[in-house]
This record gives sequence, C-alpha cells and structure tokens, in this order.
Amino acid sequence: MLTSVNTATSGQWAVLQENLAGIAGKHPGVVFASSLGVEDMLMAHAIFDAGLPIEVFTLDTGRLHPETLALVDHIHDRYGVTVNMVQPDPVAVKRHVDEHGAFAFYESIELRKACCGLRKVEPLRRILQGRPAWVTGQRREQSLTRTELTETEFDAVFGLHKYNPLANWTLEQVWEVVHALDIPYNPLHDQGYPSIGCEPCTRAIRAGEDIRSGRWWWEQKLSRECGLHVS
Ligand code: ADX
Ligand code: SF4
Repeated sequence: MLTSVNTATSGQWAVLQENLAGIAGKHPGVVFASSLGVEDMLMAHAIFDAGLPIEVFTLDTGRLHPETLALVDHIHDRYGVTVNMVQPDPVAVKRHVDEHGAFAFYESIELRKACCGLRKVEPLRRILQGRPAWVTGQRREQSLTRTELTETEFDAVFGLHKYNPLANWTLEQVWEVVHALDIPYNPLHDQGYPSIGCEPCTRAIRAGEDIRSGRWWWEQKLSRECGLHVS
C-alpha cells in the first residue's frame, strides 16, 4: 500500500500492481518494453518489486543518451535485474549510414522512418517473435496519436496481445509515485526533457510546450511515431 501519495494515485498504483500480476499469470513469457523513460521506470519498479515473471528489454538503438544508458546499471544496482538490451542488425545499420549519412533522419520523413525501422522496429519484431504478449508504458495524454489508447489490445502488426496499463495515468501521478518510492529516473527529465528517445531526435522543451514537442520536432505532430505503436 502506497500511503504517501493522494488517494486516487494510490488507488491507481494498486490497480497497476494487480493488472501486472494478472498479465504475468495469463501470459507466461510476456515481455515489457522499456524506453527507460520515467513511466517505464515506474512500471519496472512495479514488476521487480513484486518479483513478477515479466522480462524487460530496451531497444538499444545505438543513438540513446549516455544518461539513458546509465539507467541500466542503476536498475541492476537497485533491483538486481539485467535489462535485455536489444541491438539492431549492425550490417543493415552500416549500409544505411554509408548510403544516407549518420543524420539522414533530418532530411525527410521517409529516411527518418527508415532509421526507426532499422534501429527500433526490426529489433522489436525480433524480440516479440514467439511471445504471447507485450507491455508498454504508453499513456493517452502523451500524444495526439494516443488519445484513443486502450489498456488492452491485440497488436495486429506484431501478432500478439498488447497491454498499456498506464493508459489513463497522468504525468503528475507518475511523478508522485516515482518520488514517493524513490524510483531511479533519467536526470534529463529534470532538464526539460519530459519525453526521451534517441539523442539526435530529442530536445528539451520550453515551459508551456506540449510534452512531445521535443521529439522529432522538425516534423508535423501526426507523423511523430516511430512504428513501435501502430493502432
Ligand atoms: S516512441 O514510440 O515515441 O519512441 P515513447 O518514447 O513515447 O515511444 O514510449 C512509449 C512506449 O514505447 C514506452 O513506454 C515503451 O514501452 C516503448 N518504447 C519506446 N522506446 C523504446 C525503447 N527504446 N526500447 C523499448 N521500448 C521502447
Ligand atoms: Fe533513428 Fe532518430 Fe528513429 Fe532513433 S529516433 S531510430 S536516431 S530516426
């Protein structure tokens, strides 16, 4: 029972713990995709604290911030768990970089999506292969593309069940629990980065800007998804 936060948040936390236990029981082999962002640190805490059999992986795109990568060690120190770092195919990445350059994602949506495809989507497809279900830290209020997000869905793209147990959490509630339980988090969050992806595709936002405006900021809002989540 989480007592040092308001009642609604403590209720959300209890429901999250219950939901995760239910998912783990229903789908042996289920995996949790962690971007190592604050929502995912909260989810990881809920999983590790209860000792749930849910494996955790991160798509290590090769372009993550050092601050993000450092969290893998923090997780190990705090919970004794090793996050599975899933790498892209080095040959495909090299071919793409040789052909288009290391910063081609700024040139067009097509090249940006090609980079996300190689560094995120293909490795995701590989890790989800043969799994019954996956869990994400997506929230409805994160983006215009997520306003219809449900807590439970069937992921037709990757062919397995998909759970978004934080769908109706607010960012404020996430932080309440993170602070109350002293959960480790990325220091970039305190430097104007509410949403953190790859280093060259993420920047700090100014007060009043929406929380996703630092991601792929040179593109239109509705194109700003990398292909992990297609509904
Ligand atoms: S993204 O699709 O725009 O990059 P976002 O950063 O909002 O996603 O994160 C939403 C959810 O996608 C995370 O809670 C996590 O489940 C998953 N995710 C995003 N990036 C990664 C990553 N590098 N590794 C594993 N999961 C990720
Ligand atoms: Fe490439 Fe940027 Fe997508 Fe990362 S977020 S995979 S660097 S285009």
